[in-house]
Amino acid sequence: MSLQITCRNPACGAALKLNDSLAGKKVRCPKCAKIFEAEAPATLDLPRENETLPLPSTPRQSIVGSATPLHVSNSNTLIDDRPLMAQGVPVIERIGRFQIRTKLGEGAFGEVFRAYDPQLDREVALKVAKPGTLTTPDRIERFLREAKSAANLRHPNIVPLFDTGRDGARYFIASAFIQGRTLEAELEEGHLTQTDTARIIRKLAEALAYAHSQGIIHRDVKPANVMIDEQGEPHLMDFGLAARAESGEEKLTQEGVAMGTPAYMAPEQAKGEQEKVGPASDQYSLGCTLYEMLVGHTPFSGAPAQQLFLHQTNIPKSPRSLNRGVPRDLDTVVMKCLEKEVGKRYADCQELAEDLRRWASGEPITARRAGQVERLVKWTKRNPAVAGLMAAVVLVSIVGGTISYLNYRQAQTEATNAKKQEGIAQTEAANAKTQEGIAIEKADLATKEAKESRRLLDLSRLRSAQADFRNNLVQVAHDTLVPRPS
Ligand SMILES: Nc1ncnc2c1ncn2[C@@H]1O[C@H](COP(=O)(O)OP(=O)(O)O)[C@@H](O)[C@H]1O
Ligand SMILES: [Mg+2]
Repeated sequence: MSLQITCRNPACGAALKLNDSLAGKKVRCPKCAKIFEAEAPATLDLPRENETLPLPSTPRQSIVGSATPLHVSNSNTLIDDRPLMAQGVPVIERIGRFQIRTKLGEGAFGEVFRAYDPQLDREVALKVAKPGTLTTPDRIERFLREAKSAANLRHPNIVPLFDTGRDGARYFIASAFIQGRTLEAELEEGHLTQTDTARIIRKLAEALAYAHSQGIIHRDVKPANVMIDEQGEPHLMDFGLAARAESGEEKLTQEGVAMGTPAYMAPEQAKGEQEKVGPASDQYSLGCTLYEMLVGHTPFSGAPAQQLFLHQTNIPKSPRSLNRGVPRDLDTVVMKCLEKEVGKRYADCQELAEDLRRWASGEPITARRAGQVERLVKWTKRNPAVAGLMAAVVLVSIVGGTISYLNYRQAQTEATNAKKQEGIAQTEAANAKTQEGIAIEKADLATKEAKESRRLLDLSRLRSAQADFRNNLVQVAHDTLVPRPS
């Protein structure tokens, strides 16, 4: 039975569903964390036949809780830590050797419980297929594929898988219990810094590079499949769609049918081209996750079918164009992961991890920023109508510009010629001036020479007259000094 109430925080007002045993007790709203008293039932839902656990089916909508003790679980759902039996609801207490404690979440095939393994004295996350869901060998195979895929993976950032088995009609998979919450829940809080973001994605890229090196492709990388532990370390989980590249497991997937989560699916995955889905598809999904962490939403939105289409055809707006606070290099890294062509993405997830490490330590990244031309081509593909209009404007400008340019060139040539002529005239004038100077100098020199020869002539006459006087040749001396007119 359930009790429907509304959160008492007027700013929140979330519609909440509680177990009716909580009527009159204190509960905490999973959306705004306000603690308030659950009022008397407004409406009562009758339990369905065979319903075992009235626990949340959609993590962020339903509540199971009591006055004490309450805590927010990994999936951000209110969880009552008392044993389920104490909550007065019919429960499964044990599956295989595992003691069921609380419910953590619910997926396509079944539910995930926090459970205790008395044999190894440790807590586990127990994924249990709902009875009636694994009706065909194919379905059983698919459910257990997670176990097969992840069984041999040992990496600090991959949730280790412990056991798999069957209890009556219930198949189960036990993995390490991670105390924390999903990256999806972390993103809703919005407390992660860009440094945290780059570190988390780097570690997930390393985890994926390792899984790929072991021949495992995850195929459903997204924030909901990453647990962030209490130290802030990411742990990749849910290898439910994973495939082993070299095995015949592809037969379990239908050609032409997309598998994964539309918001994070690589173009080749969205097309349902199973043989093309590989490590680079996980890199693309991780790129979508990084994109979401930087701007708050995935690259594309809309109905699932629309998103599948957009992944194949549209280039998303770059994170930096949506938020100038996104560093240029991180923007480049995201857009490289989101390339439509596999060959244009990073060669592998390890290279992606390396670039994120470089970014964090302030080194230049290796991913090449798309050149101006490449970016223009991409932009044109994204905005064909605007691009067409702009092309027309550019064409008109080019024609107009060419005419103006030719006129300008002609005017410039004429100006240059005029300048040349002026230069020649100036040079000639300068030459003439130089010649005139030389001529004047020559004339001066000639005048000086003439004066000097006259002076020398006068001097020799004087000397000759002196000699004549001394020899009493007065008349001769007189004639020398005063030459008779001829
Ligand atoms: N190892 C784990 N430790 C803690 N919580 C887990 C663990 N595995 C799963 N959960 C919780 O269960 C939810 C569903 O798990 P998941 O493996 O993604 O299964 P599915 O997607 O098939 O429902 C997760 O969102 C998380 O809240
Ligand atoms: Mg999942």
